[in-house]
Amino acid sequence: MFIVLWALLPIPGHTGQDGSLDEGKLVYMERCFQCHGPEGKGDGTAAEFLPRKPRDFTSGMYKLKSSPPDVMRARDEDIFMAISEGLLSNGMPSWKSSLSESQIWSLVVYVKSFSDLYDGEQNPPALKIPNTPRTADTVRWGRKAYFDLKCDDCHGVNGTGNPEKKLKDDYGRKIYPRNLTKPWTFIGPYTREALYTRVTNGIPATPMPPHYDPKKEAELSQQRMDTVDYIMSLAEQAEKERQRKRLLIAALAVAALFFGIWLWMGKGSREQDQEA
Ligand code: HEC
Ligand code: HEC
Repeated sequence: MFIVLWALLPIPGHTGQDGSLDEGKLVYMERCFQCHGPEGKGDGTAAEFLPRKPRDFTSGMYKLKSSPPDVMRARDEDIFMAISEGLLSNGMPSWKSSLSESQIWSLVVYVKSFSDLYDGEQNPPALKIPNTPRTADTVRWGRKAYFDLKCDDCHGVNGTGNPEKKLKDDYGRKIYPRNLTKPWTFIGPYTREALYTRVTNGIPATPMPPHYDPKKEAELSQQRMDTVDYIMSLAEQAEKERQRKRLLIAALAVAALFFGIWLWMGKGSREQDQEA
């Protein structure tokens, strides 16, 4: 009876606890130390040539965290995702095609071991994400929220950035707010849920602020989701615009080609007339 019940229990989610510290260290010393440094301090020999400082793992801070804002620790799944997918536009490569999943889980255990923050701690829970669907209304409210939350101050009125804003990250390096109409330049995944966690938590070590107030969460959580719906709609509009431009260029190229052929044929027939 118990065995049957046990078999019906959901399979526990894979967490970094299954990885091996020894394997993690081995892979780290082959693939990661050049940038992140042998002691995980972000001071490898390649560090100065990169657009961003490689993560100092002793700080325990991660930019792409899906835990709630009042927990500083990232979730094992966040660190796994960052290693698999990379933060390409900031110089962190993707490793999913060169390392196995179990090697990546071992790296999760190993990089966490550089920081006291994770000592004996449980994997934090995931931030709750509102499950209200996107509608024309949420996009409209999101446009208002975008200005109410002052996103335009850095990302500009159209989401393409505010050139007047001169920003630096916590390491004193110049940083530009992302152009929200070019999601392929983002460091994190481009899904509604992932963007919601990013807008909630902000991006640590950069000027991108968290938007969270435990006293106003009922109202704020929906406002953040609406903002996400709005910025995704901005990116979709921009993509349509780019497609229209590509079509126009293609149509012009075809017209130019036909015009060229027509000119060439006209010249050919004039030559035949002269010969006759
Ligand atoms: C070519 C240099 C380079 C190599 C090699 C490299 N990294 Fe990184 N890594 C970076 C940079 C740069 C960042 C910081 C990106 C940022 O702050 O936006 C980073 C960030 C990270 C982060 C933090 C992600 C977050 O959400 O904050 C993790 C985890 C990470 N690297 C793990 C690894 C592991 C594990 C390896 C080896 C398999 C590795 N890196 C190899 C350059 C590198
Ligand atoms: C003080 C300036 C500032 C404000 C205000 C700000 N951002 Fe940002 N934002 C940034 C910077 C800087 C980055 C780039 C961070 C990086 O490259 O690591 C960024 C990045 C982003 C990204 C890209 C995330 C990714 O995965 O690369 C999104 C989406 C975003 N911001 C949305 C918003 C929204 C929505 C608001 C308002 C609720 C907002 N931001 C307010 C400065 C700001």
